[in-house]
Amino acid sequence: DWTSDVFIDATIADLKAKIGSEKVVMGLSGGVDSSVAATLIHRAIGDQLTCVFVDNGLLRKNEFEEVLDSYKHMGLNVIGVDAKDRFYKALEGLTDPEAKRKAIGRVFIEVFDDEAHKIEGVKWLGQGTIYPDVIESVSVKGPSATIKSHHNVGGLPDFMKLSVVEPLNTLFKDEVREVGRALEIVETIIGRHPFPGPGLGIRILGDITAEKVKTLQEVDYIFIQGLKDHGLYDQVWQAGAMLLPIQSVGVMGDERTYEKVVALRAVGSVDGMTADWIHLPYEFLGKISNEIINRVKGVNRVVYDISSKPPATIEWE
Ligand code: XMP
Repeated sequence: DWTSDVFIDATIADLKAKIGSEKVVMGLSGGVDSSVAATLIHRAIGDQLTCVFVDNGLLRKNEFEEVLDSYKHMGLNVIGVDAKDRFYKALEGLTDPEAKRKAIGRVFIEVFDDEAHKIEGVKWLGQGTIYPDVIESVSVKGPSATIKSHHNVGGLPDFMKLSVVEPLNTLFKDEVREVGRALEIVETIIGRHPFPGPGLGIRILGDITAEKVKTLQEVDYIFIQGLKDHGLYDQVWQAGAMLLPIQSVGVMGDERTYEKVVALRAVGSVDGMTADWIHLPYEFLGKISNEIINRVKGVNRVVYDISSKPPATIEWE
């Protein structure tokens, strides 16, 4: 029978044998998968592992600083790269969801490649790929997918010449969490909702600007913090907010306003392949809606998404 302790011991022994005295580079996302994978590799080979955490300007509010801090506390050798402006520049004027995804993926690879180059003699690329990523071969998600889709685009980035090491590629999400807890990784990382690689970039419909990111970060923060404060966060598989590319009329004092609409989404799921919308209490939704409209400049309307997947997806893109 599968137990996390057996898995951990066997995996560490396997990684030691495979990697020996060579160096590994790995991108971290702040999510469960890459954090658990990095911790396992670190247990096996220590500081032969260098981690890279990129601020793509599309993370949640305060996420870059907080997650970087957690990683440092965990003893990981991690380089934080502020690449916000590179991403915003590449995204300028793009409105097509696929074009935006491609731009985000391309810049990520450029930034990561720059960092990987600084590590002399690196031989391996660590990845947090889990089993559902492996089987979902057509529309694979995550950094590994991003890398694959660029495979065809011409010149291979140098780190693509690295051998890949994916210690979690036989596990499901709940098993990854179990392993993470056995490794004593902090609950703020283990219990974290899934968050897409392209981040808020696929939750801002239409073109992306630094200002829109700021707006959505504030909305998202109020919603997520609200879920935590009301004991709802752990009952939800994933939650977030979408910034819509439309404005609607509102009223403030004697004035008509013409401002943005945000949609809140909270779903239950096992692996993201199918999902049901969560029946959040009306009182909670009302309170959060008020808070968003009162506190976030430029937003005058909040709606709640009651569609399930399929046919609706989780992200609005
Ligand atoms: P959809 O929107 O397809 O999302 O129902 C299903 C799950 O996948 C996540 N997602 C991504 N995760 N890179 C990721 O790492 C991506 O490009 C990506 N796109 C979607 C989404 O957040 C949900 O959990």
